[in-house]
Amino acid sequence: MNKTKHKIAVVTGAGGTLCSEMARDLARQGYKVALLGRSIDKLKVVEDEINAAGGEAISISADVSGEASVRAANELVMKTWGPVTVLINGAGGNQNDALTNTVEFDERELEGDPAVKGFFNLNMQTFQSVIDINTMGTVIPCYVFGREMARNKHGNIINFASMTSYRPITKVAAYAMAKGGIVNFTQWLAAYLAPANIRVNAIAPGFFLNDRSRKIMFHEDGSQTERAVNIMRQTPIKRFGDAHELLGCMNWLIDDKNAGFVTGITIPVDGGFLSSPGV
Ligand SMILES: NC(=O)c1ccc[n+]([C@@H]2O[C@H](COP(=O)([O-])OP(=O)(O)OC[C@H]3O[C@@H](n4cnc5c(N)ncnc54)[C@H](OP(=O)(O)O)[C@@H]3O)[C@@H](O)[C@H]2O)c1
Repeated sequence: MNKTKHKIAVVTGAGGTLCSEMARDLARQGYKVALLGRSIDKLKVVEDEINAAGGEAISISADVSGEASVRAANELVMKTWGPVTVLINGAGGNQNDALTNTVEFDERELEGDPAVKGFFNLNMQTFQSVIDINTMGTVIPCYVFGREMARNKHGNIINFASMTSYRPITKVAAYAMAKGGIVNFTQWLAAYLAPANIRVNAIAPGFFLNDRSRKIMFHEDGSQTERAVNIMRQTPIKRFGDAHELLGCMNWLIDDKNAGFVTGITIPVDGGFLSSPGV
């Protein structure tokens, strides 16, 4: 197999904080990179950066939780370059309406007190949509792009788990449930696709700032919110992660020479969060 010809990656969520960095790094290594996300404008910024630096990227607007949309993206990639060999499933995230503002049951949530948003006040459609994006938004790209990988008996898939995959973090029930599922699905698919020479692993980032979480972690005057202080208390390295600190993990996982016996694992990159005693 001509390895250069087959260095074709799809990165979902490529307009976002973590996966734009991954897409740029894959391009630096000679991968042709298809950038997937819903807002084309965000993708175009990354595409322009990659192409200006001498790499090759295309932006494809796609909703990863919709099969038809991901199939259309695959057809475009196939027509442009050929079958994908690396799939980074970064698309995901949370929505404010799926978050409680309480960490435990409060009777006021049953009385419709607007100050309290508990589990019983959540909008079930939003809850479902967070689960869809963070579960089916990974399953469907595996189903669509993985099919070509299986045909060619070669491929690497990286999914995105979270600290909440290990123990459910307060306030984020839907997201926690979905990211817990990612660890399980990564193991399932790894075992299933091993005969097709496809390795499936996941990265579980600790706390990294993105456009959404920045508003949750900092007050307008720049000071940390109670949530951020709590997280830092339980992060031994005492800072948020930086997107480039995920690259070593990604590059090792997709390296068939050095990680060829590694499949089905989820690797935390978390500043020690999982090792913190928490008390
Ligand atoms: N940042 C952290 O601390 C952290 C921690 C643990 C896990 N993670 C996970 O790491 C991944 C990347 O996070 P990030 O911090 O880079 O988030 P981000 O900056 O919000 O990027 C996520 C990207 O996913 C895209 N996306 C969301 N829903 C989509 C859909 N249905 N179809 C296609 N694209 C969709 C969004 O673009 P559009 O809205 O334009 O579609 C967005 O650009 C996510 O899976 C996240 O859950 C992040």
